[in-house]
Amino acid sequence: MSRPKARTPLVQIRFHLSASPEEVFPLLWGELSSSLLQRGWQIHSGPGGAVRMAGRRSPRADVGRVERWDPPHDVEIVWKQDAARGEPPPRFAVRCRVEPSGSSVLVEHSGGGGLRGRPREEQALGWLATEVVAPLLLAIAPARLTDWTDDRWGRRPSGPSSTALYKEPIYHLPGFHAILEGLALRKDDVLLEVGCGGGALLKRALATGCTAAAIDHSADMLRVASQQNARAIAAGHLQLRYGDAGALPFPSERFTCAVMSGVLPWLPDPVGAFREVHRSLRPGGRFVAWTGTPKMYGTPAAGPRRRGGPRLYDDRTLVRFARKAGFSDVRVDHPDLRAVAQALGVPRLARYLFGPEYGLLLWARRGSAGA
Ligand SMILES: C[S@@+](CC[C@H](N)C(=O)[O-])C[C@H]1O[C@@H](n2cnc3c(N)ncnc32)[C@H](O)[C@@H]1O
Repeated sequence: MSRPKARTPLVQIRFHLSASPEEVFPLLWGELSSSLLQRGWQIHSGPGGAVRMAGRRSPRADVGRVERWDPPHDVEIVWKQDAARGEPPPRFAVRCRVEPSGSSVLVEHSGGGGLRGRPREEQALGWLATEVVAPLLLAIAPARLTDWTDDRWGRRPSGPSSTALYKEPIYHLPGFHAILEGLALRKDDVLLEVGCGGGALLKRALATGCTAAAIDHSADMLRVASQQNARAIAAGHLQLRYGDAGALPFPSERFTCAVMSGVLPWLPDPVGAFREVHRSLRPGGRFVAWTGTPKMYGTPAAGPRRRGGPRLYDDRTLVRFARKAGFSDVRVDHPDLRAVAQALGVPRLARYLFGPEYGLLLWARRGSAGA
């Protein structure tokens, strides 16, 4: 094996997409930037844009820069390299090209790798196998892809499509209707929502004059929820927090009522989450959770039952969970929401999913003090 020449591509990955570079590039760049940000790195777009640790301001903290900025076709980042190495600095390029079938995205790494040790080829292949090929192999495994899609749409929604969907989640509106009708909120209610998504239920709840607080563990969802409820937040009627259902960032006995809509299927420890809701409720406080029944498996709403996928529980299991978490007065309702779904504009072919056998409301109450 001979030593690669400078600028010879060391790694190339090509994707083919049926969209134009104008559509592909901003999505790809946006996802790349936010994914790097989650890992603590910031890329400043534009010519000469710095790559540095998030939060650092000094150019001395730069580890690289955008050398070429020609969207939607070509962007190249060059990492800083120790001049003493005598190697060309590592380069990373994203190239979108128009082809007859659509566009292709070429992601390419070239230049020096900063590898040390001899023989060099053994080091290079070790790096390639452990840092590039193994993660790629695992990323494309069907189970991982399904898991990623579940995360993206349900467990921790992110990205432009989920953001748009959860602003006004058409398939959740009948559930919102049933929750709000049952809760009959009043001005003096203090509502907790766990897993608020894009804040569409909060918007409707706050219209009753109550106050509320909510958590979610998706940064994208919290952004949408705060945009949608900006006025309520400014008026001090709504508090949004990043948090986990298993450790609510609120004091005990703060709320008069609590809701969860479409969240239960994603919780690794539903009893732990119910315990947290129970702790946060005042004595006599009521709790309602809207979720699908096991009959929903195999439908487009839940897909096939699979390991790591959404979990749908039967009535008895949910009642047991709620009692275990300390709730009294527990019951399950199966409302028929097909007419509501029709009135709310749910497409005809999906309305059967709002029949009584597919969805349920778990109602529970925290016992009154001394009861
Ligand atoms: C299917 S979405 C439903 C969103 C919203 N409640 C609705 O009905 O439109 C599930 C939401 O629960 C959130 N979620 C799931 N597990 C969570 C957890 N352990 N802690 C906090 N939020 C969670 C997700 O981020 C997502 O926003």
